[in-house]
Amino acid sequence: MILWGGRFQEPPDEEVWRFTVSSADRRLLEVDVEGSLAHVAGLGAAGVLQADEVAVLEEGLSRIQSEARRGSFPWSDGDEDVHTAVERRLGELVGEIAGKLHTGRSRNDQVALDLRLWMRHATGRHVEGIARLAAVLSGKASEVGDAVVASYTHLQQAQPIPLAHHLLAHAWSLLRDAARFRDALARIEVSPLGASAGGGTGLPLDPAIPASRLGLPALFENSLDAVASRDAVAEFAFCCTRTLVDLSRLSEDLILWASTEFGWVTLAHRHTTGSSALPQKRNPDAAELTRGKAASALGRLAALLALEKGLALSYNRDLQEDKEHLFAVSDDLDGALSALARLLDGAVFDPPPPGTAVVALDLAELLVRRGVGFREAHEAVGTLIQRLEEAGRGLE
Ligand code: ARG
Repeated sequence: MILWGGRFQEPPDEEVWRFTVSSADRRLLEVDVEGSLAHVAGLGAAGVLQADEVAVLEEGLSRIQSEARRGSFPWSDGDEDVHTAVERRLGELVGEIAGKLHTGRSRNDQVALDLRLWMRHATGRHVEGIARLAAVLSGKASEVGDAVVASYTHLQQAQPIPLAHHLLAHAWSLLRDAARFRDALARIEVSPLGASAGGGTGLPLDPAIPASRLGLPALFENSLDAVASRDAVAEFAFCCTRTLVDLSRLSEDLILWASTEFGWVTLAHRHTTGSSALPQKRNPDAAELTRGKAASALGRLAALLALEKGLALSYNRDLQEDKEHLFAVSDDLDGALSALARLLDGAVFDPPPPGTAVVALDLAELLVRRGVGFREAHEAVGTLIQRLEEAGRGLE
């Protein structure tokens, strides 16, 4: 189905049609119907639709919502996008009156609303997933007790620290990621409905009515901006990407620690994978793939920003491409959060003691406590370590 046949002299060219239709947006089905139910309420409140018309449309949309939830919505390849599919289905269920659903609305404000509703749900899920992983890290920190490892700078042993301190460093960066998601909600939970195609509508609709039905605390300030902007999508994608970058660093640590050379941690058999050639191998593939997913997310974030960069205001069809990137970064984050939480949960830490040179700074500070200037103490301990090394000995 198409929603715009009237002024066309011929049907769409099949190849061009196939190139322009969207199927990635099928994941917006539930939020699209949620938005339409709120829109119908607004049309009713304005007297644009009569109460009996509102009831029929609500009944039809509720049936579509059940189909969406059961996974039985009848998709048709002939529909241009998810919005068209819902209007087509509504027509099948309630007849011609379905044509009144789109009154005072455009797919431009509709899709902007759908994205925001979808990101609102996803944000809640990501915050929970991050909190779960942070809790696993903090549980492991308690479990390892006072086990001591070296801290590293430049990947060289630096100072003696509790392993718990290192594990909790990852937990703290994750908590900031969760806070960043929550902050982004202030810019996600803004209703663009009422902006219509960008210039608003001449009908006496109050955008506050659907917004309040949807529980969106803020309204668009400018109708062109409402349909043209995808900064909330890019910000959400940044929050996902930033979290994936932190997960990637956690992964890199786990990969190093699970190596024979480090030997700090043993990963559970059920969380590792084998080699088709090397019989002895147990590889930390889930952690490696998390690093890989972070790379994909970085690319997708760049794609989202590039998508908007050269667009004359307001809506342009380029923006249809945003969905693929948005869904992918969010899915990859879901997957990585859950895989790493499992990997860590099954990990057994038993680090060997670090090299004795890690107490070098403590030794220098001991001299400082006895009145030696720090630069002199630094020099003395450095010289001592150098002489011991030449004699094949360590600080012990
Ligand atoms: N499928 C479109 C998208 O994802 C919906 C908006 C279409 N608007 C339009 N004027 N063709 O962006």
